[in-house]
Amino acid sequence: MPTAPEPEILAAFEAAKGFMPVREGLALYEAAVGAGRLGLPLLEVGTYCGRSTILLADAARRSGVTAITVDHHRGSEEQQPGWDYHDPSTVDPEVGLMDTLPTFRRTLRKAGLEDHVVAVVGRSPQVAAFWRSPLGFVFVDGGHTDEHAGADYEGWAPHVAEGGLLVIHDVFPEPEDEFTGQAPYRVYLRALDSGAFEEVSATDSLRVLRRTGAGI
Ligand SMILES: C[S@@+](CC[C@H](N)C(=O)[O-])C[C@H]1O[C@@H](n2cnc3c(N)ncnc32)[C@H](O)[C@@H]1O
Repeated sequence: MPTAPEPEILAAFEAAKGFMPVREGLALYEAAVGAGRLGLPLLEVGTYCGRSTILLADAARRSGVTAITVDHHRGSEEQQPGWDYHDPSTVDPEVGLMDTLPTFRRTLRKAGLEDHVVAVVGRSPQVAAFWRSPLGFVFVDGGHTDEHAGADYEGWAPHVAEGGLLVIHDVFPEPEDEFTGQAPYRVYLRALDSGAFEEVSATDSLRVLRRTGAGI
């Protein structure tokens, strides 16, 4: 029987602005609850407005651990003005740049999950460079270029504890299916090729990998 969120958490997730589809969100939640049993923090790269963070926060709450979510809150390439995934309401009119932090904070507040999340505002490689603690779960959903997705993998995968999970979003093995590039797919292949991860599950474009050894 899969572990599903309570109806009010699912409703908050579905109402939140963002990019995580429901089926993948449910798979993400199940993986996060399972990984929470290790008693280590759960970390996400790519907060945006907090849609997936709701699920990680609730999984963390259930396990008595903390969810950490990292984002510079200035948006990815494809979310900038003029691109397909741009939402004009995310632009701060005073500085003329995207700022998803206020919406994220409201989202988390409304869901009643603020106490279970530490939000880190910064560039993922810069945060990873000083990170020293093992993690039970790393969810990679940040920038989708090779530069950014590759740096997320290099920065965070080494911190996944043995038995912990690395979850990658937007993995599209077929070039015709992708909509923001195949960099996450290349990261997924890199993780498997390293010998340090084995695949646990695939739900649409979401891949769950378990750390089984050193190797990275
Ligand atoms: C696809 S969105 C995340 C969607 C979110 N997980 C959801 O469920 O809706 C990607 C996010 O990654 C952030 N991002 C992109 N590159 C980043 C980097 N190098 N460091 C930190 N955040 C980054 C963007 O600001 C954006 O908010």
